[in-house]
Amino acid sequence: MPEAPSPIPKARPQAPRRAVVTGTAGFIGSHLALALLKRGSTVIGVDRRDAGADPVAAENLAVLRGQPGFVAITADLRTCAVEPLLLDADAVFHLAGIPGVRPSWGPKFDDYVACNILATQRIMEAASRLRVPRLVVASSSSVYGSTDGSPSKESDHPRPASPYAVTKLAEEQLCLAHAARPDCATSVVALRYFTVFGPRQRQDMFIHRVLTAALDGQAIRIFGDGSQRRDFTYITDVVAATIAAGTASVGNSVINVGGGNTTSLNEVIDLARYLTGQPVPVETTTTRNGDVPTTRADSRTARRLLRWRPRVDLATGMTAQLDWLTSHQHVVV
Ligand code: NAD
Ligand code: UGA
Repeated sequence: MPEAPSPIPKARPQAPRRAVVTGTAGFIGSHLALALLKRGSTVIGVDRRDAGADPVAAENLAVLRGQPGFVAITADLRTCAVEPLLLDADAVFHLAGIPGVRPSWGPKFDDYVACNILATQRIMEAASRLRVPRLVVASSSSVYGSTDGSPSKESDHPRPASPYAVTKLAEEQLCLAHAARPDCATSVVALRYFTVFGPRQRQDMFIHRVLTAALDGQAIRIFGDGSQRRDFTYITDVVAATIAAGTASVGNSVINVGGGNTTSLNEVIDLARYLTGQPVPVETTTTRNGDVPTTRADSRTARRLLRWRPRVDLATGMTAQLDWLTSHQHVVV
């Protein structure tokens, strides 16, 4: 029987008093840190990239500079002392990691393992020792692998199809294994984000590239025939789910963060053409290993446990991303 829709509160989710956000120089982490600060949290932001040396990090961190309550720490979580960062935290939002499905086949795999698994072990151990009440960890829709196109449920058997996806599954399960110990006072919520988009999206990602192709006329390379479908999820919706996970009265859990609507790359190209009024030059190239045909979230757990549902549709979110791209002098790497 279909689940009855639960009421969605209009109020913003409550935010932890003192939060640690790892990956604050990144796309999602910078948005999350800002949203937490706006809700009155103190935010200890940790990233190994620093604004002085990395132009993308500088662009992401610029929104946080001067915000009351923000403390930026440049540190590599593979090696730094973690406990001092987590002292007195009410919640740790662990987003630092190496994202991206396609580059994970190559020699960068060591970095995926070190940052996504070994560094996470250090964070989880420190959180557990300090009895931090909640750790929210950024997992990924990629853990599901190839599906038949029906919505992926958290209870589905994971079949990661890329080295990246293997590290994300290991990362979430590692945290959950720690949290299941009877002596562990830290509860873990693993959020499986579905292809996130919006202003400051990573430049390797599809929507950034398609809008940029429309704006500057340089062709975007499509890996395959463009029929692959993604459950594109807007950044403010992802942030809202993440903040809710920081304080929700739930035990150790895995929760999809995606709305259940899928759109093909070809449909996104059409939308980009419509929104920009420009042609989108396209080159077709081979399908990439590990690139699954469809991602689609079953979002009922997020609705039930976090009282969350996405609010921003693809056209609205792409319009905001386009506005950001055209109104900012942004760096291209
Ligand atoms: P991003 O690359 O923009 O941000 C990640 C940040 O983590 C970077 O600033 C990087 O410097 C930092 N980092 C990596 N290793 C570190 C280390 N050892 N010590 C300190 N900092 C380190 O990526 P994003 O798109 O914002 O993704 C954030 C998280 O969400 C990642 O864990 C990613 O796997 C996950 N995720 C992202 C998406 C998406 O669509 N963007 C979807 C699913 C999951
Ligand atoms: C994204 C993130 O990059 C991953 O870090 C994250 O874990 C994953 O979402 C997730 O949902 O878990 P992906 O879905 O591959 O991964 O997102 P994009 O990089 O935006 O790619 C979307 C689709 O566009 C893929 O099929 C990709 O092959 C295609 N693409 C991307 C192209 O055809 N050309 C490009 O230049 C870029």
